[in-house]
Amino acid sequence: MNDDVAPRCHMPWQQMMIAADGNVQPCAYRNNYNNPSPHPPCGNLNKQKLLDIWNGEEFQQLRKDMARGDLEAAGCANCLALKQDQPLQLLYDRDCDREEPPNSAYAKNMRLKRKEVTSGATVLKSLPTVVYFTPTHHCNLRCIHCYQDVSRDLTIARKGAEQEVQDLVPTLDRIIAGGGEPLLLPIWKRFIQNADLAVNPYLEFATTTNATRLSEDVLTGLRRFKRLAITVSMDGCTKEIFEPIRLRGNFEEVVGNLDRLIQMSKSHPSAHISITFSVMKANLPGLPDLVRFCAAKGIGFNLLPVIAYPVDQSLRSFNNPERQMEGWKESLDQSRSLFETEFAKINLVNASIAEVHRSHFSALEGHIPWHLLKTRHYHVRTRLKMSFLSAYRPAKNHQELLMGFFPMKEGNWRECFYYSRVESNEIDLYLPEGEYAVGLFPRNIGPHPSGAWRARVVSRTPSRGALDIFWGGTTLAFLQRALLTKVRNQSPRWLKKFTRTRMPRWMTELIQARMPR
Ligand SMILES: C[S@@+](CC[C@H](N)C(=O)[O-])C[C@H]1O[C@@H](n2cnc3c(N)ncnc32)[C@H](O)[C@@H]1O
Ligand code: SF4
Repeated sequence: MNDDVAPRCHMPWQQMMIAADGNVQPCAYRNNYNNPSPHPPCGNLNKQKLLDIWNGEEFQQLRKDMARGDLEAAGCANCLALKQDQPLQLLYDRDCDREEPPNSAYAKNMRLKRKEVTSGATVLKSLPTVVYFTPTHHCNLRCIHCYQDVSRDLTIARKGAEQEVQDLVPTLDRIIAGGGEPLLLPIWKRFIQNADLAVNPYLEFATTTNATRLSEDVLTGLRRFKRLAITVSMDGCTKEIFEPIRLRGNFEEVVGNLDRLIQMSKSHPSAHISITFSVMKANLPGLPDLVRFCAAKGIGFNLLPVIAYPVDQSLRSFNNPERQMEGWKESLDQSRSLFETEFAKINLVNASIAEVHRSHFSALEGHIPWHLLKTRHYHVRTRLKMSFLSAYRPAKNHQELLMGFFPMKEGNWRECFYYSRVESNEIDLYLPEGEYAVGLFPRNIGPHPSGAWRARVVSRTPSRGALDIFWGGTTLAFLQRALLTKVRNQSPRWLKKFTRTRMPRWMTELIQARMPR
């Protein structure tokens, strides 16, 4: 392969990641994990055909930006995968090069793709070769950090969309089964057991599973694939940490199923089993256990930081930073040193994989706002006025209410570094002196300020402060808020009628942007 273009990341030429709301991105990292992208998704499978999205405007622009190495323009400047040193190369089975001339649909498509990548093509004749498809968020667990909690019933809506994904099978290098819980979804159970591998013997099956249920049929079906990459989500490697996070999950059952997968991998030519550990407040102290556990089982791990929401589990948002970050440095240091000693002993990983594991630790550490530990915080408590609270009572399907504090800097609010639970109208937290935008939101959605409400903290004693919450906006902003309050608890039908008949478009958009998603 000539090296005319060797993009740092090959995803835009090979992968489509389809979320349960139909949105398509090139990967899981764009507009995620603190990597905000200025671009909209590359398309929506509920509204467009899969192959129209593949060569749509957004994918073309992304390829153009990536081919010339402009990560900023591509919307990938802060990509977690790049920080973790993931190779992000073109994935293909080297065995297909034995086909001379290429005969199978897979080999033909892959030859074409390699040419298109090296020429930096933006409109591709070759088909996507990696598809990460999340048909729904249905799941048997209720993990405390799960970003899908607010949209558990979400399912790809357009008839025919699923078939368009299946039609790619002859040329796919890898299919990544998303969920909800993939191994319980009928679509994936059918696929694992019945996919026609005669049309594509190269196909790799990959998934991330909670491994709560692993039937013999599924295990037998998995064995059929030439390559397997299965990662089991274990956010705790002891029962005491695992079960309070993975609600409804049973530690022993999951470890039992993990062992069955590991056992199966021993007699499989190319099956990789690993653990995904979503790192959050509830389990960061248990990180050394993860390293020991994986070393004992002889498997690798990924560290997924929880950094967006829920803020009460996020590694970037605190109620009392000093208390909540206690022991984090020690836990990270101990995990790192255990990795060097325990993993070296079992000789599991080669040098480059070891480097990726090390980068996982440094990327994780880089997400934690350590500077908060050098700031003086004051304990503040106050009772919120009912008039302030009443507008933000969470809807029925939402969980408890949190109040977020977004430090103001030069007239702009920054990210939500602080939060408090709202219990009996009371909030209680530790804040530095200064001004904040504030917001009330249910814990299972992303934090956002509520209109132009502000808070100010001034010190009263060396450890205690006074917190004042006030309206910091203009009259127009106040009216907007009043309007929002009126519409917030109305039915979608009422809202549709109201916006169609009574409101200018800009106000409709404003309301939609502020409604909890
Ligand atoms: C959404 S789950 C779907 C697959 C399967 N149900 C499972 O748990 O492995 C995929 C991965 O996302 C992780 N995850 C869920 N919510 C997250 C959050 N708020 N931040 C970071 N990772 C999260 C889960 O722990 C899991 O490893
Ligand atoms: S098992 Fe996966 S999808 Fe289900 S609640 Fe947990 S993280 Fe979410």
